[in-house]
Amino acid sequence: MALRDRLAADERHDEDNDLAKVYRERLLEEIDVDELARLSPAQRRVRLERVLSRLLSVDGPVLSARERGALVQRITDDALGLGVLEPLLADESITEIMVNGPDDVFVERYGKVERVPARFASAEQLYQTIDRIVSQVNRRVDESSPMVDARLPSGERVNVIIPPLALDGPTLTIRRFPTPYRMGELVDRGTLDVTTASLLAACVRARLNIVVSGGTGSGKTTFLNALSGLIPDHERIVTIEDAAELSLQQGHVVRLESRPANVEGRGAVAIRDLVRNALRMRPDRIIVGEVRGGETLDMLQAMNTGHDGSVATVHANTARDALGRLETLASMSELDLPSATLRDQINSAIDLVVHLERAQDGSRRVLEVQAVTSRRREEYALTPLMRFVAEPLGPDRTVAGRFVPEPVPDDLLERLHRAGETVLTASAPAGPGEPVAAGGAS
Ligand SMILES: Nc1ncnc2c1ncn2[C@@H]1O[C@H](COP(=O)(O)OP(=O)(O)O)[C@@H](O)[C@H]1O
Ligand SMILES: [Mg+2]
Repeated sequence: MALRDRLAADERHDEDNDLAKVYRERLLEEIDVDELARLSPAQRRVRLERVLSRLLSVDGPVLSARERGALVQRITDDALGLGVLEPLLADESITEIMVNGPDDVFVERYGKVERVPARFASAEQLYQTIDRIVSQVNRRVDESSPMVDARLPSGERVNVIIPPLALDGPTLTIRRFPTPYRMGELVDRGTLDVTTASLLAACVRARLNIVVSGGTGSGKTTFLNALSGLIPDHERIVTIEDAAELSLQQGHVVRLESRPANVEGRGAVAIRDLVRNALRMRPDRIIVGEVRGGETLDMLQAMNTGHDGSVATVHANTARDALGRLETLASMSELDLPSATLRDQINSAIDLVVHLERAQDGSRRVLEVQAVTSRRREEYALTPLMRFVAEPLGPDRTVAGRFVPEPVPDDLLERLHRAGETVLTASAPAGPGEPVAAGGAS
C-alpha cells in the first residue's frame, strides 16, 4: 500500500474508532446491564442492535445503510464478544487467527497465511479481548502468568503470550479444527479407493484392532477420525488424546485429554493414566490419538483383554516399522518385559496396519493396508490387503497411481464373515446380487 493510501486508511480508521467509541459509551449509558444479563446471547445482541440503531438515528452522523450496519455490528461485536475477531471466527475458511499486537492480524486459509485489515483500537482493547477469551476457561493472563494455552469450550485452541515476554504487544494465536473428512470424502479426494474403504469399514464393524501409521502430517489423525466415524452409533467410545483433535459424530462419546504439569511441576496426567482409567469406564471402544511411550503397553493389554475394536495412531515409516515402533514404545513402560513377550502382545493385539504417506506433491494417501498374520512369539509377518502402486512422476510433478487390492487371508475373511460382513475381495469376488460390504463406507 502506498504511504498516502496507508495514511488515508489510518485516518479513516481513527474516525471510525472515534465514532465507535462515542456510541459504545452512549450504548453503555443507555442499557440496563442487569436486565441484559437475564437475556440469552441472541436476545442480547438484538437488544443492543435495537438501542444502537435508535441512538444513531436520533443524533448520529449521516451514514449509508451499509455503513450504519457495519458500525452497529462492530459496536455490538465489541460489547458482546470478541470485537474485531468475531467476523474472522465466523469465517469457516479460516483455520488459524494470529494476532501479533493490536495492528497486526494474520489468518491462515487453505494453508496460506495472509494479513487482514482487522485491527484493535488499542493494546488495551486487545487485552480486554484476550481476557474475555481466557476467562471462558477460568484462566487469567497477567504479569504473574504471562503465557496461557487452553482449549475453548467451542473447540478452538488458544495461546496467549504477553509483554515483556512478547516484545511487540500481547500476542494471540487461535487454532481451529475444521470439520474433519468423513471416509467418503477421503475416497473422493483420492486418499484411498472405495474397495479399500469398504473393507476397512467392515473391519471396524467386525471390531478389529487397527493401527494407523505414517509420518508427521501424513494425515493419521484425519484418517483415525474417519475410521472412528464408521463405529456404529450405539457403542460407547472413549477417546484419549494429548491435545483433543478428534471430533466424532456418534451420540455416545467420552473425550479425555492429558494434562501437562503445572508451573510447580505437579498435576500432570499422562495418556497412560487415561488409558488405565478408560478401562474402568465400560468402553466399547478405546481410541488413542497417538501412542508415544509406555502407554502403548497399556493399550495393547486393553486390546488383548476384551477391548477389541480399538484404534490408535503411531508415528512410523512403513507398516512393518509401525510394529517395531509399537514394540519400542511398549518397552518404555516401567515393566521390563523381554522382546518376545512384547511381540506376543503385539501379534495378538493388532489386526491391521493402515499406513499413510504425504507424497512429494503434498497429497496424502493410504500406501498400504497390511494384516498382521504372525502369531504368538513369531517374528512379525504382514500380509498386504492393498498396496498403492505409483506411476513414475510426470512433468507436472503430481503423484498418480493405482490402489491394488490383494487377496484377503482366509482367517480374516472368516472373521469378517462371522461378524456378518461380506466383502468384495480379490480372492472372493461377490456373486451377482451379493451385498458389497454391507452398510457401505461413507
Ligand atoms: N487425506 C487428506 N487429504 C487432504 N488433506 C489431508 C488429508 N489428511 C490430512 N489432511 C490435512 O493434513 C494436515 C495434517 O493432517 P493430520 O491428520 O493432522 O496429520 P498427522 O496426524 O499425521 O500429523 C491437516 O491440515 C489435514 O487437514
Ligand atoms: Mg496427528
